[in-house]
Amino acid sequence: MTWLITGGAGFIGSHVVKAMTDAGESVVVLDDLSTGRAERLPDGVVLETGTVLDRETVDRVLREHAVTGIVHIAGKKQVAESVARPLYYYHENVEGLRVLLDAAAAAGVGRFLFSSSAAVYGMPDVDLVTEKTPCAPINPYGETKLAGEWLVAAVGARHRMATASLRYFNVAGAATPELGDDGVFNLVPMVFERLDAGESPWIFGDDYPTPDGTCIRDYIHVEDIAAAHVAAARRLAADPEARLVLNIGRGEGVSVAEMVGIIQDVTGRTDVEPRVRERRPGDPARVVASADLIREELGWSAQRGVREMVESAWAGWRLRHP
Ligand SMILES: NC(=O)c1ccc[n+]([C@@H]2O[C@H](COP(=O)([O-])OP(=O)(O)OC[C@H]3O[C@@H](n4cnc5c(N)ncnc54)[C@H](O)[C@@H]3O)[C@@H](O)[C@H]2O)c1
Repeated sequence: MTWLITGGAGFIGSHVVKAMTDAGESVVVLDDLSTGRAERLPDGVVLETGTVLDRETVDRVLREHAVTGIVHIAGKKQVAESVARPLYYYHENVEGLRVLLDAAAAAGVGRFLFSSSAAVYGMPDVDLVTEKTPCAPINPYGETKLAGEWLVAAVGARHRMATASLRYFNVAGAATPELGDDGVFNLVPMVFERLDAGESPWIFGDDYPTPDGTCIRDYIHVEDIAAAHVAAARRLAADPEARLVLNIGRGEGVSVAEMVGIIQDVTGRTDVEPRVRERRPGDPARVVASADLIREELGWSAQRGVREMVESAWAGWRLRHP
């Protein structure tokens, strides 16, 4: 059995590749290297360089590697860019998925795992977001992920494919410094960047209805995310009828102010005071996963805490910003 991992040269994808190969699975990667790097892949893993939008390439890769399951991680993920370039995001994330699913169905691939996001929930007004919480994305990025889930479920039902859409919450950390996140789009690297420049970290809004007034999120270590993929892949292999939609979070909220404090502590940059700025539009006060369903379905739960995420992310940041 061979798994095709799209986007395997990216931040999350390379962790999934590592976890799957460590678990003894055979994998091949398809990545256009638009944001990924070939060096992220372990020795012995074949990288096919190309886009999921190119049907000929996808057909060839599925055939040549006798692919029996797909983990589709490739995608564009920047919310602000998705607002500026909605057509590009729909093309990459929805049309790319459609091409891949069409090829998978034609090739008789029986398992399909899809990288979704907590962005499908939009501005949830609940303490813990369960998979039954209504989905109401508030930007094109979240819309493409929700449309993707629908597409995966519909094609899975029609073509007897076992499917899983995994809704990641706030991903951070790294298994090794080399696999750290290259982007500066999330809180942790954004604070590293400010601290490295000798500037105060920013906190966007301290007047939210939360205990310390700052937004609350559910941070999840990328190695825990990768372990969840191994568990999901095994489940899909064992259960051809599986139609899973699962949150991947820790089920614990951490406020932005708390997180900034931990980052300052880990980096030793405690000499600067965070600066509060106005709220950013579209930031919900609190987004914390219920992690019950994934524990029931896959027996998976997160093993790593926030400090471990920050320490490992900092080691990766230091490697890239010596
Ligand atoms: N990082 C997060 O916090 C987060 C949260 C929720 C969901 N996600 C989702 O997880 C996935 C991976 O995110 P990431 O943080 O690893 O991002 P990333 O940019 O590091 O990885 C994306 C990978 O996909 C590749 N890629 C992009 N478009 C492609 C295409 N058309 N064909 C082939 N390869 C292509 C890129 O080169 C890169 O290697 C994305 O789908 C993203 O939406 C990420």
